[in-house]
Amino acid sequence: MKLGVNIDHVATLREVRAGIEPEPVFAALICQAAGADSIVVHLREDRRHIKERDLYILKKVIKKKLNLEMSLASDIVRIACRVKPDQATIVPERRQEITTEGGLDVVSNYKKVKQVLGKLKKKNIAASLFIDPEKKQIDAAKKSGVKMIELHTGRYCSAREKKEQVKRFEELRIATEYAKKKGMHVFAGHGLDYYNVSRIARIKGIEELNIGYSIVCRAVLVGLDKAVREMRQLIKG
Ligand code: PXP
Repeated sequence: MKLGVNIDHVATLREVRAGIEPEPVFAALICQAAGADSIVVHLREDRRHIKERDLYILKKVIKKKLNLEMSLASDIVRIACRVKPDQATIVPERRQEITTEGGLDVVSNYKKVKQVLGKLKKKNIAASLFIDPEKKQIDAAKKSGVKMIELHTGRYCSAREKKEQVKRFEELRIATEYAKKKGMHVFAGHGLDYYNVSRIARIKGIEELNIGYSIVCRAVLVGLDKAVREMRQLIKG
């Protein structure tokens, strides 16, 4: 199981004082050395954490995969085409949200999604769609031509009742199986932490987990190197 570490919230801390510390690029290098398989950043339209400058430097200095989470907004697409990350993950984005709330509705935004995928393809940027674990979204993703999807684990992670947890877990398991049968690469993420990750890591077919908030939170207390290594240990296998 591969681990992508999202370092957005290192930049969030920097932006609290609009200063220069902590440096997200430094954080990315620590994650890479601690065993992260990819570095994930979300260039949000309001630039609340990651900035263009971070992207350009990351692209130059990291050796592992750079995975850029991005909306369908044209100025963001333009920047992605200029930076050329190894992978672009298309996510929905609402200005007021605290974090990405649901998966991309590929069914309703099909035309726009296709258009953006075409632009990314022209630049040889591999694309993934961040979607809810639903058949209709997987079907639309497949039809769009993408080879990779990331399943939104948020509903599983925020479930408090046992019955709800089982239901949400089953949705993810079934969606993974369904997408694999269609020949797609399946990743997952959002809301995963040191307590809820093991179960998801055991779903056959999921190749990579993308985790940010919980790793950065733990890093504040134990250090980033240790936080990444502990997560690596939990999901290995
Ligand atoms: N995957 C995607 C597509 C995301 O948008 C995010 C949040 O930026 C994550 C994974 C990581 O979520 P979290 O920070 O809750 O671990």
